[in-house]
Amino acid sequence: MRVLLTGAHGKVGRAASTALLAAGHRVTGVDLAPPVFERDLPGQARYVRADLTDAGAAYAVVRGHDAVVHAAAIPDPLHDVPHEVFGNNLMSTFNVLEAAVRWGVTRLVNISSETVPGFFFPERPLLPAYVPVDEDHPVLPQDPYALAKHFGEQLMDAAVRRSDLRCTTIRPSWVQNADNYSRNLGPMLRDRSELSASLWSYIDAEDLADAIVLAVQTDLPGHEVFYIASPDNVGGRDLAAAVREHYGAAIQVRELSRPDASGISSAKAERLLGYRPTRSWRDHLTERGEPLR
Ligand SMILES: NC(=O)c1ccc[n+]([C@@H]2O[C@H](COP(=O)([O-])OP(=O)(O)OC[C@H]3O[C@@H](n4cnc5c(N)ncnc54)[C@H](O)[C@@H]3O)[C@@H](O)[C@H]2O)c1
Repeated sequence: MRVLLTGAHGKVGRAASTALLAAGHRVTGVDLAPPVFERDLPGQARYVRADLTDAGAAYAVVRGHDAVVHAAAIPDPLHDVPHEVFGNNLMSTFNVLEAAVRWGVTRLVNISSETVPGFFFPERPLLPAYVPVDEDHPVLPQDPYALAKHFGEQLMDAAVRRSDLRCTTIRPSWVQNADNYSRNLGPMLRDRSELSASLWSYIDAEDLADAIVLAVQTDLPGHEVFYIASPDNVGGRDLAAAVREHYGAAIQVRELSRPDASGISSAKAERLLGYRPTRSWRDHLTERGEPLR
């Protein structure tokens, strides 16, 4: 397929580009960084610069593609001012989706976030109702990032109501790659009392990229939402015991697929997309959080 990949220069976009090309798709990457006037490198994605908050830019880049992976966004609400986070993320999603509907794109993969239910960046305390968190968990966002992602998912619902476009939303957990495992997860391994809003869940960027390829290629009708997390948790802790120790009865522990399960369930993606993650933090870090190489 001819796949447009937005946010191609980002953490998720770089991994997704590699995986989409390896799966045999023709990829056009879009991002904000300046391009170079050089010959395209064989085996790499074509690149076009565009700011997707501009509707004309979105229409121009979406044209001519069978599928769109929309990964462009400001990826958290902590390092940009709130109206930038909300405005950039919501309007770029709206514009890309609108262009996909009008140009007759068949599949849009919407990269949303594990933060949608609201317990990652709340101004007033909020805990998950239960673990592992799944797609049925109540959605009560407070912050501009999660709100824009939540509204983005609602835009997908509306798009499949009014057109033949099919949408797959992915809610990734915190994305880790070879460059940041140590920085992000190392401290959590060294101090096992450190709490994590995602209940020590994470996702390996390459497993996420494989899930994105599956989401592009699926025949599922309508719009489906999928959590994507690595199957184990950071540190391989006994999840039920850790939740009881830190949260008592405030968070209900449901049936776990394994003792060291992630705080997020990817069971729906395993069932409907054929998601089969193979990576772990253990490929990069020792039990004490030191880099393996
Ligand atoms: N990093 C995570 O842990 C995480 C977790 C859950 C969801 N996500 C989501 O995954 C997606 C990718 O995140 P990431 O970690 O790769 O972030 P990133 O910041 O590394 O990459 C995002 C890219 O999007 C581009 N971008 C932002 N606004 C744009 C615009 N208006 N037009 C064109 N390009 C624009 C940026 O320049 C950047 O290169 C985002 O939607 C993010 O919200 C990330």
